[in-house]
Amino acid sequence: MNMSEEQRQQRLAQIKQQWETKRTLNRQLRKIKTKIGVYSAKGGVGKTTVAVNLAVYLADQGFTVGLLDADIDTPNAANVIGGGDVPNMVDGRIQPAENWGVKVVSMSQFQENEEEAVIWRGPMIHNALNQFLQLTDWGDLDFLVVDMPPGTSDAPLTVMQTLQMDGFVSVATPQKLATLDAKRSINMIKKLNVEVLGVIENYTGPIFGAGAGKQLAKDMNLVFFGEIALRADYQDDSKPTVLVSKGVRAEYEKIWKGIKGRLTELEAMPAQVAAARATEDEAEA
Ligand SMILES: Nc1ncnc2c1ncn2[C@@H]1O[C@H](COP(=O)(O)OP(=O)(O)OP(=O)(O)O)[C@@H](O)[C@H]1O
Ligand SMILES: [Mg+2]
Repeated sequence: MNMSEEQRQQRLAQIKQQWETKRTLNRQLRKIKTKIGVYSAKGGVGKTTVAVNLAVYLADQGFTVGLLDADIDTPNAANVIGGGDVPNMVDGRIQPAENWGVKVVSMSQFQENEEEAVIWRGPMIHNALNQFLQLTDWGDLDFLVVDMPPGTSDAPLTVMQTLQMDGFVSVATPQKLATLDAKRSINMIKKLNVEVLGVIENYTGPIFGAGAGKQLAKDMNLVFFGEIALRADYQDDSKPTVLVSKGVRAEYEKIWKGIKGRLTELEAMPAQVAAARATEDEAEA
């Protein structure tokens, strides 16, 4: 069936609109130098805590930093970072909240009732993220830290496909039993041909033990960035813990050194080498 002239015009307008959207998105993303995802397949291992404290640490070092809560179902990064500033809508665009020097955007900031359940499927998550990316005036960012949803199914997969990250920091726990889940997380990232920057072990100490994160990194041929101890300091939610606890600060100093080393290495890595390595990993999986 032939299209009527009117249909043809409509289709053309639609294509133009899609193209315009993509162009805006690319223009926005070009202003962000490095996008780092914080991920683990297992829930509750401390992804949000690490994403928030890493972002605050980087801002404190003088970088311009954004924090995107990509956990659309149960968004809590804005609550965890605290600080009280809220985003502004100006001419339909989002001026992100700025707390502790970090520009924060989270679904929770746009819900009328925070306790309401968000039940969204992949395409809707994709749309929501795209809107956040297009409509937010991040300005020029050195880093966008992305707090990922847990799991290996629809939600994290959609985020990884929507937002091309430069690399992921994988959060593991000290117990040996959790290693299998951690390996799943890493393999999921590798399958999508995204770089795993390295591994952090969270909750280290006499209660849960230590060492499984380091072992995991060794087994998976990855860099181990360091341990983050289980501490009561995290109960004080008046400020991000990295700004109050000297011990936590030292942990992030070490982790940042590791991440920086890896990022430098990746930038220096010629494209052919990177491609060859991706195929190697695929053969292993
Ligand atoms: N090193 C630590 N010491 C003490 N408490 C911690 C530590 N790391 C995280 N927590 C606490 O553990 C809880 C879970 O952490 P968090 O919300 O960051 O996990 P998550 O991996 O993001 O969870 P989800 O998978 O649900 O998104 C929070 O109450 C947080 O304050
Ligand atoms: Mg979380």
